[in-house]
Order: sequence, then C-alpha cells, then structure tokens
Amino acid sequence: MHHFEYRDGVLFAEDVSVTALAEEYGTPLYIYSAATFRRHFKAFDSAFKGLDHLTCYSVKANSNLSILKLLAAEGAGMDIVSGGELFRALKAGVSPEKIVYSGVGKRDSEIRDALKAGILMFNVESVAELERINSVAGELGMKANVSFRINPDVDPQTHPYISTGMKENKFGLDIENSLKAYQRAAEMDHVEPVGMDCHIGSQLTSIEPFLEALDKLLHFNSQLKKMGIIIQYLDLGGGLGIAYDAEEPPHPSEFGQALSEKLQGLPLKVIFEPGRVIAGNAGILVTKVVYTKSNPTKNFLIVDAGMNDLIRPSLYGSYHRIGEVELSGRQHKPFDVVGPICESGDFLARDRELPAVDQGERLVVYSAGAYGFTMASNYNTRPRACELLVDGDTVHVARKRETYEDLVANEL
Ligand code: LLP
Repeated sequence: MHHFEYRDGVLFAEDVSVTALAEEYGTPLYIYSAATFRRHFKAFDSAFKGLDHLTCYSVKANSNLSILKLLAAEGAGMDIVSGGELFRALKAGVSPEKIVYSGVGKRDSEIRDALKAGILMFNVESVAELERINSVAGELGMKANVSFRINPDVDPQTHPYISTGMKENKFGLDIENSLKAYQRAAEMDHVEPVGMDCHIGSQLTSIEPFLEALDKLLHFNSQLKKMGIIIQYLDLGGGLGIAYDAEEPPHPSEFGQALSEKLQGLPLKVIFEPGRVIAGNAGILVTKVVYTKSNPTKNFLIVDAGMNDLIRPSLYGSYHRIGEVELSGRQHKPFDVVGPICESGDFLARDRELPAVDQGERLVVYSAGAYGFTMASNYNTRPRACELLVDGDTVHVARKRETYEDLVANEL
C-alpha cells in the first residue's frame, strides 16, 4: 500500500491532494505520510519479534517533533547524537530509558544532560570520551552505562561519505583498542560497561556487511567474557538502505531473519538504530518550476527548491526520483533540474528524462523524508521550507515555513 499515489492524474499524500496542499502552504514544501512512518516502523520492529530487542529510531534522519511523537507512540526508542537531539526526544515524550547516545564529539554539558535525563547508555567512541563520561558522572555522583562503538573494519559498499565502519573512518575504536577500553572502563568508578555497539554505514543494500560485522562483534564478545566482562546490550546501529531508484535493498523482514538466525538464544538485548529505512520513503518534497530555459546543450528546469532544502544530490550525487504533481502526458526531454542558489552544484537532478513541464507547474521529489529537512540550511538567506504531516485526510503543520524575521532573529 503506497501513500503517495496518483488519483485521476493528481498526486495525493494519503487522502489529500498535493496540489491543494501546495496552493495552501506554498512551495518548497515537505510532506510526510503518517501511515507510511507507522508502517515502516512496524515492518522493521516486527522483523525482530522473536528477539529481545529495542528499535531506536535515528533522530538525525528526520527530527521533527511530530515525527518523533508519532514514532514514540508506536513504541520506538531513539538514537541521538547531540544535546539538541536529546532535547527533542525528551520533548516528544520518549522514555529516557529507551535513548542511546552515539557520536564522536560529546561535550561535557551534553553528557551531563543525558546523565540527568537517565538515558539507557552512551555509545562511546574513544578512551578520551570514556574519561570525560567517568568524570562528569563522578561530579553528579552517578554511574554511567556505556558501550563502546567498535569499528569492525567492514566495507559497507556504499558512498564513501556515509561509510563509517572502515579503519580509515573517524568512528569508534578498532578491535584491539576496544579490549583495552573495556578493561579501563571496568576499573572506573563512575561507568559501567553494559553493551557493545557498531554502525558501519548508511544506505546499505545488501545484508552481507551487516553479517560480517556481527560475526566480528560476537567474536569480540567472547573475548570480553574471557576477561570477565559480561554485557547485556548489543547495538547494531542503523544503515539499512532504501530504493531511491533501481536499488533492491533487502526488506526489513529478510534483514531481520538473517540477523535473528545468528542472534537467537544469546543472552543479549539487541538494539537497532534505523533512520532512513523508516523516514526516507515516508516524505516528499514539492517544488514549483520558476523558469525554464535552454542553451545549445541543456534544458533547465529552474525550481524553487535548492540545495539548501535538499542537499543530497549536491553532496553525494544522490539520485532522487522526480515526477509531476499533475500528470500532463507530455513528451519527455532530458532536463537538469536546478535550484535558485548561486552554485553550479545546486541541482536536484541532471540529464533527467521528464515530461516537458512549464513554468508555474509543480514537481515532486521522492524519497525526501530522511536527511532532507534535517540537512537543510538558510544559505542564500532562504527560509527553510514548511513541513506537513498528513494522516488520512488530516493535515498537520509539523513546522511552519520560516519567515525573513526568523532568519535574523538572533542577529544583534
Ligand atoms: N546510528 C548511527 C550511529 C549513525 O551515525 C546513523 C547515521 C544511523 C544510526 C542511521 O543510519 P540510517 O539507518 O539512516 O542509514 N546524510 C546522509 C546519511 C548520513 C548517515 C549518518 N549516520 C545521507 O543523506 O545519505
């Protein structure tokens, strides 16, 4: 069941016409489907129903409070990477004991806030960070639950910018140093090593790298046991990919089955941190063609959404499917779909076959629910887009469009 579908040639988000939404709220416009978010969360979470597990949605993918509330109501925990994301998760009503905190650069104030909130555990990425956590927890008279992020040196076969588990990456600790880190943690008064963690990359389209990483972690766990360190949590991170174009990523149920086979019967609670697989195809970006122009080599569609609204094509060369909001049946031509920003890298698509749309008409950019709005900026002093959450025939403004006044509000 798809929730972004054409009805009589007009794109609908659940039961609401996208044309009507664009007319009322303007463009560029992010539209999320609540039913899709729920379906994706359930599909992922139920893939592990035979295992003691916790699905911690990765807040960075789409951190709008309405989305966090919706997922928390489905029983999701959260994976956070900053004090800001902690603030959002708590504000959305997520139970702190379902929050895990990852990231290489946690500051003292962030560690303090997370300890005071009572989060489940810190995924620690260096010995220096371990020392900080021990000392901040000491000041508060507390004991911090920690797990180390282990870098298993596995190639996730994805874009280099979103590969995180190879030895040249800044993330986590290599296996050898991890053993020393656990030893060090075991000697400390204000930390308790309770888990093991890894996250090898994002937009993975095959299961093998996950299994390879899991094998390395399970082997590492047996070494820990020999040292007398018994952990309770195994956090396998996020990273499961989605279809932007012709990719054929494993369905969460397949992913669940493959991992469950290896995890069944182990005395470990397994944690997952999916982001994209839940949010990516639950959102679209609607944009309007401001001008069309052609030169001897190119046809351009100049649209009102730029790299400040959706940076993935510019940053990673990512493909996002683009279509018409209202089907015209016109002939296709190759277009560069470009934004209004003063950078040649400001494009949503290059050499894309699209119907010959006219200025004033609207396009939809698919798979924009993850790493879309959360990576948006105000570059060129462009107010960030409005975000809507559609639930059946109900439209909820999840975030108002920014105004020019908002953009200068903190400038003194
Ligand atoms: N856990 C950790 C520790 C992470 O660093 C990430 C993503 C996730 C979980 C969620 O990964 P996912 O399930 O969404 O693949 N901006 C890039 C993606 C960066 C991902 C960063 N970390 C993009 O637009 O493709």
